[in-house]
Amino acid sequence: MVVPAPDLPARVRIHEVGARDGLQNEKATVPTEVKAEFIRRLAAAGLTTIEATSFVHPKWVPQLADAEDLFPQVSDLPVRLPVLVPNQRGLDRALALGARQVAVFASATESFAKANLNRTLDESLAVFEPVVRRAREEGADVRGYVSMCFGDPWEGPVPLHQVVRVCRALLDMGCDELSLGDTIGVATPGHVQELLSSLNEQGVPTNVLGVHFHDTYGQALSNTLAALQHGVTTVDASAGGLGGCPFAKSATGNLATEDLVWMLQGLGIETGVDLGSLVATSTWMADRLGRPSPSRTVRALSHKDAQDSQASQDSPDSQASPDSQEQ
Ligand code: HMG
Ligand code: MG
Repeated sequence: MVVPAPDLPARVRIHEVGARDGLQNEKATVPTEVKAEFIRRLAAAGLTTIEATSFVHPKWVPQLADAEDLFPQVSDLPVRLPVLVPNQRGLDRALALGARQVAVFASATESFAKANLNRTLDESLAVFEPVVRRAREEGADVRGYVSMCFGDPWEGPVPLHQVVRVCRALLDMGCDELSLGDTIGVATPGHVQELLSSLNEQGVPTNVLGVHFHDTYGQALSNTLAALQHGVTTVDASAGGLGGCPFAKSATGNLATEDLVWMLQGLGIETGVDLGSLVATSTWMADRLGRPSPSRTVRALSHKDAQDSQASQDSPDSQASPDSQEQ
């Protein structure tokens, strides 16, 4: 058994975003029953936090317009099922269905606040304040996403102080967890460590921070390792690497959950996830979507499974004649 290095956590909580962040970006709308089955299979594979959907305006994200139909189909699963809420209307819809974990989603930049929420950054924070307060009063956990923490497609590199300001504002209004989003996947490990240190210096403790990397430049796993070395223990990932962002065209897929689990297993870090079941789930979903998963680990392990099964069919034992099989 591999023992994690002293500067790494013994266990990581994976915040699975494939059903929400992944599917919101699909061109074709996935049937509600397929989404529900996807979430059930993710839970069966051992994921314990599975972001289910968003209660946003259906015209803005038509792929998730079935939130009211989907959520009751999965709400009895024994896992955490966070949902995104952009405003009071979204919170009303989520609470009416019994959601116990909600997430507001802010941006570190003005441009993305406008593109994603049709508000300035300060207007969007003002919308979130009563949403977070009421959600907490109702006993729900509240995650605060901060997108574009490293770079922004319209504004370029994002100064650390902008990210710190938004993180502080979300914590001050009552969020109990933050997720630092590299929405367009431009971060590098040094930048990750610099941002985490800067947040700590400004009174944002590491234990409320999760990280949310996209793999545009192939840095998502290196960035994750840098965050783990800093003490982060919550990592967002998307089964099969589904995703992107409909409001930031340069965003490519999220870090694939399978690639993350493969790395964490190699480091001796517990996740509770069964990698074989997860790969089978993403392969099943890729078949539903009609294209292969971009995850390297899904491709490697499903190719290996196919080769193993071919080898067992070709083995002399399996070449026995029907007569000999009857004996
Ligand atoms: P708006 O057009 O400014 O809305 O959109 P409004 O407040 O002016 O209201 C207009 C109408 O929408 C009203 O109806 C409202 O009731 C209705 P009317 O009176 O005209 O009949 N409305 C709603 N209906 C259903 N559910 C609601 C809702 N709110 C208002 N919740 C709004 C503003 C925030 C609604 C819109 O911009 C929106 O829905 N945006 C969501 C966009 C989104 O989901 N983006 C993807 C999130 S992914 C992300 O942020 C990144 C992340 O994944 C991390 C990463 O990858 O880095 C988290
Ligand atoms: Mg994402």
